[in-house]
Amino acid sequence: MGESMKGLKRSHYCGALTAADIGSTVTVMGWVNKKRDMSGLYFIVLRDRSGLIQTVVSEKTSALYAMAKEIRGEYVVAAKGEVIARTPQNVNPEMPTGEIEIDVQELRILSEADVPPFTPADEGVALDTRLKYRYLDLRRPDVHKIIALRHHVAQSIRRYLTEEGFIEIETPYLTNSSPEGARDYLVPSRLHAGGFYALPQSPQQFKQLLMVAGVDKYFQIARCFRDEDLRADRQPEFTQLDIECSFADEEDIYAMTEGLMGRVFRETLNITIPAKFDRLSWHDAMERFGTDKPDLRFAMELVNLSDLPAVKNSDFQVFAAALENGGSVRAINATGFANLPRKQIDALVEIARAENAKGLAWINLMEDGTIKSTISKFFDEAQTAEIIAAANAKAGDLILICADTHAIARTALGAVRLSLGKRTLPELKAGEFPKDFKFLWVTNFPLLEYAPEENRYYAAHHPFTSPMEEDEHLLESDPAVVRARQYDLVINGFEAAGGSIRIHRRELQERMFKALGFTPERAKAGFGHFLEALQYGTPPHGGIAPGLDRLIMIMTGATSLREVIAFPKVKDGSCPMTDAPTVVDAAQLAELGITVVGKE
Ligand code: AMO
Ligand code: AMP
Repeated sequence: MGESMKGLKRSHYCGALTAADIGSTVTVMGWVNKKRDMSGLYFIVLRDRSGLIQTVVSEKTSALYAMAKEIRGEYVVAAKGEVIARTPQNVNPEMPTGEIEIDVQELRILSEADVPPFTPADEGVALDTRLKYRYLDLRRPDVHKIIALRHHVAQSIRRYLTEEGFIEIETPYLTNSSPEGARDYLVPSRLHAGGFYALPQSPQQFKQLLMVAGVDKYFQIARCFRDEDLRADRQPEFTQLDIECSFADEEDIYAMTEGLMGRVFRETLNITIPAKFDRLSWHDAMERFGTDKPDLRFAMELVNLSDLPAVKNSDFQVFAAALENGGSVRAINATGFANLPRKQIDALVEIARAENAKGLAWINLMEDGTIKSTISKFFDEAQTAEIIAAANAKAGDLILICADTHAIARTALGAVRLSLGKRTLPELKAGEFPKDFKFLWVTNFPLLEYAPEENRYYAAHHPFTSPMEEDEHLLESDPAVVRARQYDLVINGFEAAGGSIRIHRRELQERMFKALGFTPERAKAGFGHFLEALQYGTPPHGGIAPGLDRLIMIMTGATSLREVIAFPKVKDGSCPMTDAPTVVDAAQLAELGITVVGKE
């Protein structure tokens, strides 16, 4: 139930009113955030997307007073009245409009509301409930602030790229499969029964074809679809800022991206970031941080202890075995963590185990100068001192050591480092965005990754990434060592963007497909149109694609992509609000020529 707005026009957003409006008659419209009954007066705080304003209804006008009595939380109302100053004892310094209120002369209920499952003021609402009622969740100012930032970021991006000569072009959503490493979402075709479109995992092939077309500089804020297992930083549909440039090399892409990020952070968060970002090769990132996306907000770098005499000549079976098998013994100095309780050290061991490490050893340098170590019986004082010196540790520090294959020792300690490092970061208050952003280019990735269980290579990025010129000749003879002209932009430990300089010669693209195990027939069937396009004059080109959702997540310090997407999916890929995906009726399937065989 509710009345129409007829005869009333909104004059102001609630949060836009200030002391300068005192004396003027205004009309606001919004949701009832709170109502208080103070013998003879109703204080009704109204809320819209801009903020809150208090309105007062007094007993003097009895019809109004009766209506105010009816009003409950989340009703949608219009209130017309005079802006007045609050009496000094009623000023609320916590509230941006806390100096003023509206003395209501006309009040209208536009829409009633049942008691909602939760109100914007409720804390600790379960995620499932929040997402089932996402339209209520979005009424919360903190949530709204993130979604609004996303809009401003997109606008800032568009302005910058337009000024830089980029053209925004839409590419198809109904297309064929372009492999980016995930499964495709398929869309059946009514007119081609048995035929399927694939939703794009990214517009990769199309943007390259636009370079063949002479577009020169392209961008698109494009939805991408990947049927992969969800994580906090992965959604099945997400948005990329997709970019491609002709006649560009790595330096051009770096400079453009640095300019873009600088502009976005300045315009939307008023934060100045470095004009140039640090660079680290993939190999050094793995050696020093145990990950290809290091979080540089904290140190605690990995140290390789393998060549230390104390370690090399050790009788400790775990270390000796790792070295004999061609692996390594590595450590991190958990600076200042000497007092970490045993339970928490055990939790770190579990983190290492989750990365397939067999265990962790540790040396605890207590503040009082004593040393507690799990491996004391295998190392004398001098040897222990050698390890402590190599780890650059002092009293108050905790050294964590992992002996395993190079890969496992690095990633296990990388995960431990991340867990410890996060504890050193300042905690954000509710609704507060972080201030500290560390940007890093990771470069020189391997071109291919070997999958032993399938005895084949996969493209580490995607099949269109160019090998480094000096490694190109090794594509057939030693594929594992070929480095790619790929780069990732890492911000605060998240892969915020990925890109590469592309293959622009058909012959090399065919060699790449071959290295990936495609027969010429399969390559032609899947990519014939693309291979053909390459032979009609293709400029050298390259590009990048920042994940827009990831970027907003990093900028707002959100812990999950769900927080930065208006209507996100949950863990199993479903939408708690619409219940998608749902079973469709038989007639719809029949029209598509589809029979469902297996069903949950
Ligand atoms: P890539 O696969 O590295 O590259 O993706 C680029 C960026 O997109 C974001 N991203 C995701 N965000 C949310 N959920 C996901 N499931 C997800 N997957 C990826 C990340 C990532 O850095 N076509 C190439 C780009 C190029 O080469 O130009 C591509 O898609 O932020
Ligand atoms: P053990 O000889 O099995 O009692 O192990 C002695 C210590 O070595 C224990 O603290 C283990 O946690 C630790 N340890 C076990 N595996 C490893 C490993 N792969 N790297 C480093 N330390 C380990």
